[in-house]
Amino acid sequence: MLGLLGEQGSDFAHKVDFAHDVVTIISVICTVAIVGVMLYFAIIYRQRDGKDHDTPRIEGDNTLEVIWTVFPTLVCIWVAWLGYDSFVDLRTPPANSMEINVTGRKWAWDFTYKNGKRTTGELVVPVDEPVKLVMTAKDVLHSFFVPVMRTKADVIPGRYTFEWFRPIKTGDFQVFCTEYCGNEHSRMMARLKVLPKAEFERWLADDSEAKKLASLKPSDRGKELYVSKQCVTCHSLDGTPRVGPTWLKIFGREGKLADGTTYKVDENYIRESILQPQAKVVQGYPAMGMPSYQGQLSDDDITGLIEFMKTVDGTQKVEVAPALPKKSAASTAGMTPAERGKALVNDSGNLCATCHSIDGSAMVGPSFKGLYGRKEKLSDGSEVTVDDAYIKESIYKPAAKIVQGYGPVMPAMYEGKLSDSDVADIIEYIKTLK
Ligand code: CUA
Repeated sequence: MLGLLGEQGSDFAHKVDFAHDVVTIISVICTVAIVGVMLYFAIIYRQRDGKDHDTPRIEGDNTLEVIWTVFPTLVCIWVAWLGYDSFVDLRTPPANSMEINVTGRKWAWDFTYKNGKRTTGELVVPVDEPVKLVMTAKDVLHSFFVPVMRTKADVIPGRYTFEWFRPIKTGDFQVFCTEYCGNEHSRMMARLKVLPKAEFERWLADDSEAKKLASLKPSDRGKELYVSKQCVTCHSLDGTPRVGPTWLKIFGREGKLADGTTYKVDENYIRESILQPQAKVVQGYPAMGMPSYQGQLSDDDITGLIEFMKTVDGTQKVEVAPALPKKSAASTAGMTPAERGKALVNDSGNLCATCHSIDGSAMVGPSFKGLYGRKEKLSDGSEVTVDDAYIKESIYKPAAKIVQGYGPVMPAMYEGKLSDSDVADIIEYIKTLK
């Protein structure tokens, strides 16, 4: 009715919305009626001429008493029944639900499927099938909230909780952590991807990445992980400064930590920095720059990364996935520039959507919504109007003009990765986000 809770993505969403609408409408009617009458009486019966006036004596009225007792009681019972009815739905997953394990940690969501497939920050499910999330936390309280599915449950260390939903439409939706869990709580988000059944089965069965990794020698495994786990976003191999220290000749490096003490990069230092990145932060780098990879990398993976780091002498080249996967590059032929730009922004290899929302919500970087033509204050105090040239510069040279309130955290990795026409398409797409 009122549509206050937004898009409906699960089969019980309409029930939750109906209960919400009923309570909202009753509250509005009661507030207007009670406050209205109160104000009206306060005005017409105000003290006048500095004199008190006698009020009439009013006897009870049984008919009125019965009406205003019975009617609200029935309304309350109806509201309670609406709540109970949808609560039972929300807490009763069908027996044939597909189970997915969810682990909350500071500050990311990990998902494990029955066949061993793991993802981080992306929950992929099939449409029209019931999905049960079996959830626990590694460290502190979190809460898994999928607004479009109208379901939410606390995620608690040392205990399993659950929630379930049956998606009724495909698409990408937002997941939030809704339990304050530390200073990166507001960024503890995930994406829910609802796929058509066949496409989901293909995605789930695709273990090519895991198989390939297992057959590699440790340093090659590390090299693969360097790209697939997105280490490449923040750590260069050729000495280029990015968000984190370069891996060029990193093994054995010595230097100062943020707290003034010294460090030397050996196996244990790397392991600790991967699992507890905040333990020993190198001077000059952001304290909260790196998320923990606890639970995402096995011991073999970590050994692989260490072995790879030992080999980085400036001759290594890695192939970062092209801006658009090949198959979709062909299928973009018939697209408009704005549609192609949208595909580029949403492509997981480009990472745009990791930091820039399209709905105005604040993430690591400015939202794309209403960005084009906006006047932005820069960190040096000057002002800039967002036009084609500014967007292009910001993509190729992110550190050049940083919007006030944001950190210099965008990786300089798009020059060469995105062509001029890719950038032009992205600009066309941003123009459509008003
Ligand atoms: Cu996890 Cu807030």
